[in-house]
Amino acid sequence: MDENIVYHRYEIDRKKRCKSKNQPSFVVWFTGLSGSGKSTIASLVEQKLFEKGYLTYTLDGDNIRRGINKDLGFTREDRKENLRRIAEVAKLFVDSGMITIAAFISPLKEDRDMIKSIIGADDYVEVFVNTSVEECERRDVKGLYKKARAGEIMNFTGVNAPYEEPKHPDVAIKTEDESIDQSVENVIKKLTDKIEAYKHE
Ligand code: ADX
Repeated sequence: MDENIVYHRYEIDRKKRCKSKNQPSFVVWFTGLSGSGKSTIASLVEQKLFEKGYLTYTLDGDNIRRGINKDLGFTREDRKENLRRIAEVAKLFVDSGMITIAAFISPLKEDRDMIKSIIGADDYVEVFVNTSVEECERRDVKGLYKKARAGEIMNFTGVNAPYEEPKHPDVAIKTEDESIDQSVENVIKKLTDKIEAYKHE
């Protein structure tokens, strides 16, 4: 870091923003294969929170990669940089007082550890959308598995790039065994506990 850059502390801070909205701020980070259901579940979770009156914002891999990260691809290094930038952006959103939702494959433990350390463990809720590669491939909503199998996409997670399953996620969702409503409820339950704990601080 440049030694000539001095951090400026602003008077209106996270604590004040959260207090004025009566909500905590944190990140709900969805990880899982492409097509596992991350964005679908994230969107429903956000709708539930929004209906309850909370301020939310969602960062999504497919969307972010069309904007701020459009210079990045899917090599190990590019994914790491993609996730580092998103984690930094998510941290800003947390500072702004938002309940921030992030949906990214985030395939490697090493990268998820980095994300957690950037955001801060207390503000990071990890949701593992555990859908098997067979099922994602069967659904193949975007037709990308077919292309990857045909050799048209390199480094495709689950086909020719690794996905390391989280060992201790805060919430694990088995989309093959439970309904979408159940999955959404399980996430909301976890978040409600966190929100209530803040309100009773
Ligand atoms: S991450 O690995 O860096 O976390 P991210 O979530 O941003 O990935 O982007 C994943 C999305 O990019 C997928 O849902 C898919 O639509 C698209 N995509 C394009 N190429 C690939 C690839 N090689 N591997 C995985 N996803 C890809």
